Amino acid sequence: MTTPILIIIFIIFFAYHFNKKSNLGKPNKKGREQTQKYYEEKYITPYHIDVYKPVFKKSLKILNKLIPTKDIGILEVGCGMGEFAKYLRKESYTNYLGFDISTSGIDLAKKRIPEWDEKFIVHSAYELEDIDFDYKVVVAIEVLEHINDLKFISQLKPGTHLIGSVPNYWSSNDEHLRVYPNKLNIWWRFKKYMIFKTFYKHKWNRYRFVHIFSAQII
Ligand SMILES: C[S@@+](CC[C@H](N)C(=O)[O-])C[C@H]1O[C@@H](n2cnc3c(N)ncnc32)[C@H](O)[C@@H]1O
Repeated sequence: MTTPILIIIFIIFFAYHFNKKSNLGKPNKKGREQTQKYYEEKYITPYHIDVYKPVFKKSLKILNKLIPTKDIGILEVGCGMGEFAKYLRKESYTNYLGFDISTSGIDLAKKRIPEWDEKFIVHSAYELEDIDFDYKVVVAIEVLEHINDLKFISQLKPGTHLIGSVPNYWSSNDEHLRVYPNKLNIWWRFKKYMIFKTFYKHKWNRYRFVHIFSAQII
């Protein structure tokens, strides 16, 4: 009698864990970046950004600790609808430029923070040399997994601080080109380009998490 009960308990336990693990999503087999048109449509119906609050807050905390001066030049890649810019403005940072490949994302950012409407531009992550802005900090929150991260990072000047966050899970709509499963993987991938200063793991649940880090470009 006890054997069937044990088997049932085992099946329930296994199914529960398998289901949680499947939250990590299916790998992006094509490994191709989503198009600009795709990102245009993404912001036509804006998504709920509030879930990312802990990531924005932690990134801000890292920035505050790293650089206490409020007029430091901050460049944000893939700023989307400008949520992190909202945090920066509230914290009295003044010298900011955010860019994104999505016009609808940038339009939304301008609408959400009208006081900063000139601080948002449509631009590609691969043409940094065309950006006329003096920055000491680059922010990349949930962006590096969407782009050729090494190509982007190789454009950054030595001495620049990078604050970023990267997930360990795939996206349901093939937005992620890769995932970053652990700290060692992140360090190994970027070690040629930067020296890491801080690492923080934010867990959404037992399996899904993001690493938030700061580093200095060498
Ligand atoms: C997951 S969203 C993150 C948005 C924002 N950082 C946030 O946390 O709310 C990824 C962003 O990267 C932008 N993006 C994707 N490819 C890009 C590229 N090649 N150049 C600039 N931005 C890009 C997308 O338009 C999108 O807004």
